Amino acid sequence: MKGIILAGGSGTRLRPLTGTVSKQLLPVYDKPMIYYPLSVLMLAGVKEILVISSTHHLEMFRSTLGDGSRLGVSLSYAEQEEPNGIAEALLIGADFIGDEQVALILGDNIFHGPGFSAILHESIRQLDGCALFGYPVKDPQRYGVGETDAEGRLLSIEEKPAVPRSNLAVTGLYLYDSDVVNIAKNITPSARGELEITDVNNAYVAQGRARLTALGRGFAWLDMGTHDALLQAGQYVQLLSHRQGERIACVEEIALHMGFISAEECHRLGREMASTSYGRYLMDLAARSAAVVPA
Ligand code: G1P
Repeated sequence: MKGIILAGGSGTRLRPLTGTVSKQLLPVYDKPMIYYPLSVLMLAGVKEILVISSTHHLEMFRSTLGDGSRLGVSLSYAEQEEPNGIAEALLIGADFIGDEQVALILGDNIFHGPGFSAILHESIRQLDGCALFGYPVKDPQRYGVGETDAEGRLLSIEEKPAVPRSNLAVTGLYLYDSDVVNIAKNITPSARGELEITDVNNAYVAQGRARLTALGRGFAWLDMGTHDALLQAGQYVQLLSHRQGERIACVEEIALHMGFISAEECHRLGREMASTSYGRYLMDLAARSAAVVPA
């Protein structure tokens, strides 16, 4: 399975923070925002990842993340010249996707909760068509909203409905089979002038091949659309990290855990940041996971 992180948009709702910096590179407690969606793809076992951003910001992503080899993954980059909608990522990434399955994730979405890794792996194992993830919210009007039957099959998705049929927002993580590029090629811009991901998803709904897994209580799905939401996300990550002593979306730790890098490599990454608690955390992890680690 290939992975795409869409980190586009102009971040207008977070100005002036986003005057020069891309929204998806803003700090969420101890790391840039894009580490969070990157960690989701890595947890899913995805190693070939395309990062899509605006022409203006692409270099910043490249210099932040590099080619991924330090994390044992392969990162490539592509531009979205104008914010023409989430579904455009599937057209920009068409050659990259080829005839493989793909996981598309929005660069400003944080997912965190018990058993998430198992949910991802099970969804990929069962993937037939598309797999979406729903999250109960109190303001579904702001999102794509899904309605399911008792088996979790999607009956409809409505984009920002005035009268939502459920409180399940469709989150910004989408798993697709290889038909998705052809489906995306056949949709047309919506009233707001965007290629809507909801139209792609509804094409799968029409084929009866779309599932929505509800992420329930105790799960956190955070998007960072406002200054308060950004700060709250950072505080959430800080609170859990302090309380449990484990970091969230620590991509180096996930790379180690997934077997993408060795304990020695993890230790080296930590040592580069040895003056920070983040760096020392990595060095400790590496030391615990290997009998022999260079001093
Ligand atoms: C987009 C999608 C919407 C989805 C949301 C998740 O909304 O169109 O279906 O629920 O992302 O963050 P947008 O950010 O384009 O308003």
